[in-house]
Amino acid sequence: MREPALSGQTSQTGLGDVAVVRARQSEDVLAGGEIVRHRLSSRVIHWTVAVFFFLALLTGLPIWTPIFGWMASLFGGLSVCRWLHPWSGVVFAASALVMFVHWFSEMHLTGKDREFLTPGGMLRYFRYQGEDSEVGKYNGGQKLLFWAAGLGALGLLLSGIVIWFPELFGQGLRELSYVVHDIAFILFFAMIIGHIYLGTAAEPGTFGSMTRGTVTKEWARLHHPKWYREVTGNGRGR
Ligand code: HEM
Repeated sequence: MREPALSGQTSQTGLGDVAVVRARQSEDVLAGGEIVRHRLSSRVIHWTVAVFFFLALLTGLPIWTPIFGWMASLFGGLSVCRWLHPWSGVVFAASALVMFVHWFSEMHLTGKDREFLTPGGMLRYFRYQGEDSEVGKYNGGQKLLFWAAGLGALGLLLSGIVIWFPELFGQGLRELSYVVHDIAFILFFAMIIGHIYLGTAAEPGTFGSMTRGTVTKEWARLHHPKWYREVTGNGRGR
């Protein structure tokens, strides 16, 4: 997995930014003094999911309740929302499936991750008291988000299909689908708010991993020490 570091090169060269150029193809490698965390394909998949999640959310809210009726005008009216919402939902679910397959092998929860997910483990994480040098590329919380997003997208898709084609299903299933769809999108939205906070303001340096594709060595050593050691080959985590 590990490729030779591009040592001795500065991050800006006449050929462009080495780290960004490298981040088109590969990840988990050193480049131009940084570490490539997410290659281009990972970032394109992630942002496709994010864009269509928000498109489905913003076109769905005015259909859900008149309180958000004003949002419909952003898309040309409620009638546009009525067809744009299910189709953006389908693209969201399809891209979430691609993301699920793409990241599946890296998201298995280990015994260490389960420890991280206990109330005590979470508290230590948010207080930056975590001494866990065994956190790999993704911590327990990130893996949990991955699984919850996969499950949530499936729940939204299945319940959405029933609501979209009500004549094909019985009344009981239709009523259940409304409840599932509403609860799923509210929980999903709350989860994504937490995710955005952690990926931007809470942990400076994280957002760049989804834009440039890279993080600094300091960021990697602080948040994902085991991954840092694997990428740099530095056993002492320095
Ligand atoms: C504006 C919205 C969003 C922002 C700013 C954002 C930001 C980020 C960032 C910075 C990462 C990389 C974290 C790391 O490498 O440690 C990431 C990863 C990820 N994102 Fe997002 N994201 C957004 C929306 C979404 C949405 C809508 C989903 C829906 C499924 C999603 C699912 C994921 C998953 C599963 C990961 C991998 C696990 C993780 O790192 O948490 N993201 N996101």
